[in-house]
Amino acid sequence: MAAARTILALAVSLAAPALAQEQETPAPPMNKWSFAGPFGKYDRAQLQRGLKVYREVCQVCHGLKLVAFRTLADPGGPGFTIAQATAIAAEYQVKGEPDDQGEVKDRPGRLADVFPTPFPNDQAARARYNAVPPDLSVIAKARGYERGFPRWVGDIFTQYQEQGVDYLTALLHGYRDSPPAGVTLPPGNFYNEYFPGHAIAMPPPLTDKRVDYTDGAPMTVEQYAKDISAFLMWTAEPHLEARKRVGMQVFIFLIVLAGLLYFTKKKVWHEVELHPEKLKPRPPSEYPRA
Ligand code: HEC
Repeated sequence: MAAARTILALAVSLAAPALAQEQETPAPPMNKWSFAGPFGKYDRAQLQRGLKVYREVCQVCHGLKLVAFRTLADPGGPGFTIAQATAIAAEYQVKGEPDDQGEVKDRPGRLADVFPTPFPNDQAARARYNAVPPDLSVIAKARGYERGFPRWVGDIFTQYQEQGVDYLTALLHGYRDSPPAGVTLPPGNFYNEYFPGHAIAMPPPLTDKRVDYTDGAPMTVEQYAKDISAFLMWTAEPHLEARKRVGMQVFIFLIVLAGLLYFTKKKVWHEVELHPEKLKPRPPSEYPRA
C-alpha cells in the first residue's frame, strides 16, 4: 500500500512539470539591438521614434517620472538639441510652484522638469484600467525573464544583457485576438503570449500605422515595439554608452598594465636569476656585522 502511494506520488511529481510547461510563457525572441555588445551604441533615430511612440500612445497611461526633459539633449541619448528639448518640455503642463497665496497652478514644462505622470494617484489609475500602469522610467531593467541553463552560460561570453528590452518588445506584439481554447480571461483582461500568467489589463496599445514615422522606418507594430523598447532601454540606462566605453578603456589599460608589471618583475628579480647561489640560506655566522 505504502509502495503504491510512493509510486503514485512519484508519477504525479514527474507529470507536474509537464503540465506546468503547457501554461508556461515562451521565452521572448532575441532581437538585434544596436546597443548590444561591448561596443554598443544607441541608434539616435530609433530613440527619437521611440519617444514619438511614447508621446502618442503610451503616455496616456504610463508616466516617466524619473526622466527629465534636459536629458533628451544629453550625450549618449536621443540626440535632440537643447532648443528641441526645450520645445518638447514646453508642450507639457506640469505643476508649478506655490504662489503667495499657496495656490499651485500648472505651467508649461521646462528643461529641469520631469515627464508628468498621467494619473494623480494609483487609485485613480486602477479605477480607470482595473490595474495600475507602472511607471516606465526603469521598466526595461525591472523586467526580464529567466534564461535558464545552458543559455545563461553562453550569455557570459556573448555579454547578453537585453532580456528586459526583448521582453518588452515581445510583450507589445504578443497579443492574441482570443485566448486559446479552454482559457477564460478575467473581465477587462487581454490575452498576451509573453505576459506571465497571460492575462494582462493593458489593452493592446499598438496597431499598424498608428504613429506617423517621417524617416521611412516601417510603420508596423513590430517596428513600433522595437523603437519604444529601445527608447525605454535608454530611459532605464541613459549612460550605457559611457559605461561600455569606459569598460573597454579599463580593459585595454589593464592589459597594458599587466605587460608593464611583467617587465617590472623581470627587472626586479634580474639579479636573483643571474646569481641563484645568493638565494641559498647562510648560517648566522656568515651574516655581515656592522
Ligand atoms: C490604455 C492604457 C495603456 C496604454 C495606452 C498603454 N498601457 Fe501599458 N499598461 C497598462 C496597464 C493598465 C498595465 C498593467 C497591466 C497589468 O498589470 O495587468 C500596463 C502594463 C504595462 C507594462 C508592464 C508589463 C509587466 O510585465 O508588468 C509595460 C512594459 C507597458 N505597459 C508598456 C506599455 C507601452 C510601451 C505602451 C505604449 C506603446 C503602453 N504600455 C501603453 C495600460 C496602458
